Amino acid sequence: MNSVSESFKNNPLHFKHIIPLDFNTTLTLPDSHTWPLSLDPIGSLTHVQHEALPVIDLTNPEAITLIRQACEKWGAFQVTNHDIPVKLLNEIEFQTKRLFALPLNQKLLAVRSPEDCTGYGLPRMSTFFSKFIWSEGFTVMGSPVDHACQLWPHDHVNFCNVLVEYQKELETLTEKILGLMFKSLGLTQEDVKWFKPNNGSKPPQAVLQLNSYPVCPDPSRAMGLAPHTDSSLLTLIYQNNTSGLQVYRDSLGWVPVKPVTAAVVVMVGDLMHIACNGRFKCALHRALVNKTHIRISIAHFYGPPRDVEISPCLKLVDPDHPILYRPVTWKEYLDAKAIHFNNALELIRDKNNSGCTHLL
Ligand code: OGA
Ligand code: NI
Repeated sequence: MNSVSESFKNNPLHFKHIIPLDFNTTLTLPDSHTWPLSLDPIGSLTHVQHEALPVIDLTNPEAITLIRQACEKWGAFQVTNHDIPVKLLNEIEFQTKRLFALPLNQKLLAVRSPEDCTGYGLPRMSTFFSKFIWSEGFTVMGSPVDHACQLWPHDHVNFCNVLVEYQKELETLTEKILGLMFKSLGLTQEDVKWFKPNNGSKPPQAVLQLNSYPVCPDPSRAMGLAPHTDSSLLTLIYQNNTSGLQVYRDSLGWVPVKPVTAAVVVMVGDLMHIACNGRFKCALHRALVNKTHIRISIAHFYGPPRDVEISPCLKLVDPDHPILYRPVTWKEYLDAKAIHFNNALELIRDKNNSGCTHLL
């Protein structure tokens, strides 16, 4: 180990933020990564085949209605004909694989420090569990250049070009889908004033998360990514042709999100759920791992400017649908999530919502 990883290893504060394991050389599931079934808050890790997550063709004239139905029922769907060039999807997949194929020591040169949100490491949610997840991640906010230079001092240009192009395309697609979602609820720009795509003064915030789920010696007792909802307005996930992602439905349990070539998975995030006063679900999802194939995913989290308040749209509030949540900024919400994880949404419930519509 080099001096960087050595200093992190010796500091217990950093323990939960680094990958303690070289997945490539681990042939049996260590105790540190073995999840007892009782830790799974929802139920058994096994599942039967269910109803499938909707796949929506964005060029379908019915797309708006299908999106509304999918958001109300699932809080998630897949989209095809989304205009992201397949070449770019292949390139981001290639660059993601290239990154995670680096030796552990090299990846640790770009390790995320506990105070920071970007770089190589485990997702923040890891601190809420006593067992480690079977995955590794790389987080980018804004420019990827600094961390890319740490990984490839002389060869970072291709990686950065692909990521920057991907960030741009995904932002455009997210804004298009958000626009369709608002429209599907009969909301106009006037109703959601805080949503200002391409507005220069206060740009929206986005986080790009590259994930790798290495092959696992005992997938039935390992967790790729624990059940969670995303804190974003909307998350778009591109996955390679390997299953593992699952969405939870009350009536069905865990439903696999079947990989569809060149499709993008859309997850409604907590902020969108708040903004539409609970009309759209925010999907509880998780990722499992497998014995034979590395799974790669690229998640693009999109939110409003950090200090803009999001509150339930008053057009969606009436005596039958009282206000569910109090106003919250993304920054405030992320802070709550960092402490309370999946209980954060419950904590910003409007305390006065006993059937009254006091803001009207
Ligand atoms: C996430 C996420 C799912 C996946 O990064 O929040 O849910 O398939 N990822 O990797
Ligand atoms: Ni997620």
